[in-house]
Parts: sequence; C-alpha cells; structure tokens
Amino acid sequence: MHKQKNPLEDYFRKNKQRRMDKYMHYFDIYHRHFSEFRGKKVTVLEFGVKHGGSLQMWKHYFGNKSRIIGVDIDPRCKNVVEKQIEVYIGDQGDRNFLKKLAEKIGPVDIAIDDGGHHMQQQITTFEEIFPIVRNGGLFLVEDLQTSYWNNYDGGYKKKGTFIEYAKDRIDDLHGWCSRDEQELKVNEFTRSIKAMHIYDSVIVFGKDKIEPPHSEAIGFDSLNNTLKNPKHFTTSSSKYDSMKNLLIYLEPNKTYDKEIMANIKMQVDNSLKYWRPKDILLITNLPFKYSGIKTILSDKHNKIEVIFSLLQEGRVKEGELWWYHDNDIFQMRKFKSWETILIGVDTGFVLSRTHSPIQNIFFSKDSSKIFEWIINRSHRLRSDPETAFKSLADENYRGFNSRYKKLIPLKTFHHL
Ligand SMILES: C[S@@+](CC[C@H](N)C(=O)[O-])C[C@H]1O[C@@H](n2cnc3c(N)ncnc32)[C@H](O)[C@@H]1O
Repeated sequence: MHKQKNPLEDYFRKNKQRRMDKYMHYFDIYHRHFSEFRGKKVTVLEFGVKHGGSLQMWKHYFGNKSRIIGVDIDPRCKNVVEKQIEVYIGDQGDRNFLKKLAEKIGPVDIAIDDGGHHMQQQITTFEEIFPIVRNGGLFLVEDLQTSYWNNYDGGYKKKGTFIEYAKDRIDDLHGWCSRDEQELKVNEFTRSIKAMHIYDSVIVFGKDKIEPPHSEAIGFDSLNNTLKNPKHFTTSSSKYDSMKNLLIYLEPNKTYDKEIMANIKMQVDNSLKYWRPKDILLITNLPFKYSGIKTILSDKHNKIEVIFSLLQEGRVKEGELWWYHDNDIFQMRKFKSWETILIGVDTGFVLSRTHSPIQNIFFSKDSSKIFEWIINRSHRLRSDPETAFKSLADENYRGFNSRYKKLIPLKTFHHL
C-alpha cells in the first residue's frame, strides 16, 4: 500500500528555518497521535528547545490557533521566541521549577519531553507535568534509548530508568484489576492514564479520567441454546444455567396493608410472565401465599442480611444467578436478555446516580464475602447497608471495588 505523505516529515525535509535533528521514525508516531489536535486551540509544551527547530515545526503543524511553549536550561534559547512561541528557562530535573512553570502556563494538551534525556529529568518531568495535561491530551517522551545507556544513568532492567518506571505505570494502569491491594492498588495513575503506546525509544501516554472498567454482554448465548425456551433465562456466559428472581418484602412494622399486598401480587404476576414459578422466590417477614410461589419467612432486618443468609444456608446453587431487584424497578422496567454476565467477579450491582446500588443486585453462590463485609461495616458504623456500601467503596476495603461488577444502568434493560 502506498504510504501517505507525512506533513511533519515533509516539513522537516524542506526545513529552511531553525535547525532540528530527529530520528526519522518519530514522524509517524507524532502524526499518528497529534493529527487530531491540528487546527485547534491547543497548548503544546516541549522540553528541549536547542535551536528552536521543533517549536517552529509544531507551530506550523498545529496551526495559527496553537500556543507553543518551549523549556530549556540554556538561556540562549530565549532567542527563539516569536509569535505563538514562548520559551521558559529552567532545569527540568528541578521539581520546584516545574511546579512554578505549571502554575504559570496552566493546562496543556500535549507535552513532549526532548530535553536532557537523563532518567531523573524524565521521571521528574513526567510526574510534575502529566498532572497538568488535559483529559484527552498526551504526554510523549522521546529518546528513551538513554534508558539503556549508562552515560545517561541507564542500563538494561536497571532500577530507576524511565523504561523501568514506565513498566510500573503499566501496572498502575491495571490498578482496577488488582485482587490484592497490598501488591497493587488504584492510584492517581490508574485514574488518569488511559493508554501507553510504546515505540522504539518513544512512549506516548494518553490521559483521561478513567472509571473502573465494566463489561457488557449483548446477544444470544450460542453455547446453551437458550432461544428454544425464551422463558428460561440464562446469561450470555456459560457460567450460569439458570436465573432466579428474588423478591423481598420486609415490613418494619410487620403489617401488610392492602396496598402492600397488591404490590406483592403485582410483582409476582409480572415475574410469572418471565420466570417459571420454581425460579421465583419470595422472602417475607409475614406469612404470605400467592399463585403457588415459594415463600420463605425471614426474621432478617434488611435485604442484604436476607441475601447473606440465603447464601449461608446454601440455597443458592452452583450455576445459578440470582437477581434481587427493588420492587418498583421491576414494575417499571422489564428487561431483555442478559447483560448481567459476571466474569471475574461474583456480584453485580447496578450503580446509577439515582438509585442505591443495593436496590438491584445479581449474585451467585460465590458472592458471600461482599455481603458479609457490608453487614459487618453497617454494624460497625451503626448504619444502613447503603452507607456501609459507600464506606467500603470509598475506602476500597480489601479491594472491595474489584470484587463486584458495576452493571449497566437500568435504562438499557428492555423487554425481551
Ligand atoms: C535534543 S535538544 C532539543 C531539540 C529540539 N527539541 C528540536 O527537536 O529541535 C535537547 C535540549 O535539552 C536541553 N536540556 C538539557 N538538559 C536540560 C534540563 N535539565 N532542563 C531543560 N532542558 C535541558 C538542552 O539544552 C538542549 O537544548
């Protein structure tokens, strides 16, 4: 295939302005990542000015709305200032200088490190400047071959090189996946490094606000042939072969008035449209009988305790996924096939801004731990389970947030 012309390489080859030297394979990397910023009002910050050749190239490439900022330790570099091009003099290995610089210049869209190329300079610059890169922006470090050269404090797998530092950032980027907080936990890099693109001697970090990952599964289960009986629900994962519909009615004052009775009946009627009677379970704290649905009496005080006791009593069997949903939710929204697949976690909470996460829960035989933690925390805080859930999630207690899956908001459930 014919290779498209690269405007940066083209500029470089025809350059009659200020000098620059470049590894030729950098141009494709630059253009691949930078092209979407062209013609926009962007701020580009480059460490390493020298003759000012690259600053002029960026100005030309990004266009007349761009603001190009150069930083160099050599005061002579001030000479290259021109329209759209600013230059600051200082040492990129000096955190105080970088902090002041960051304050002075404000957020940037693209930061490029082509300065001194020593390990401490590169790491310090990344740590001080990555925070001021805007979400959606980039931080590019070049000439990383110095990580392997001892005259730059580099060395193969030597502690403290930028390449080794970057390997740790790959771990941070996977902070949400950690199963052991002692080893790896979510940190600021997890929350802000969207991607790391590794090239020979260049790494491009993409920045964004990163939320815990969630997966969705849409479509029919090809392995379990579930279409044959649409009333029999199963997940898109072969892990579950049946789904139970759990209804819980606990009345604190232990009286069912007419309205509550009608509500329970409506829930059961609705459920019967989609579930086989044997797959519907009704838990109440007062005797109740309706439509041959199995009713279990419970003396528990809240829904989380009920679910935990069901798990403790071994009622939830291998291969079953149970759905507990808040009453009105089911009344208002029926749902489609299964987007509730739980892979790598044992519990799913539907987290939405308007509903508490414990109004809508998917759980399996292996979900006990999370409910035990919520109950223990609510005892300790003398709080309701919602508050306990929030407290555990905020603290990410023992990797709490990686134990459950954040499920899709309710509005995406549809009728089958
Ligand atoms: C490779 S040149 C930059 C070339 C330029 N980006 C270009 O492509 O036209 C490296 C520059 O980094 C500067 N430099 C070296 N150590 C530095 C430090 N500690 N802080 C800031 N700049 C430094 C040098 O003075 C030199 O001008």
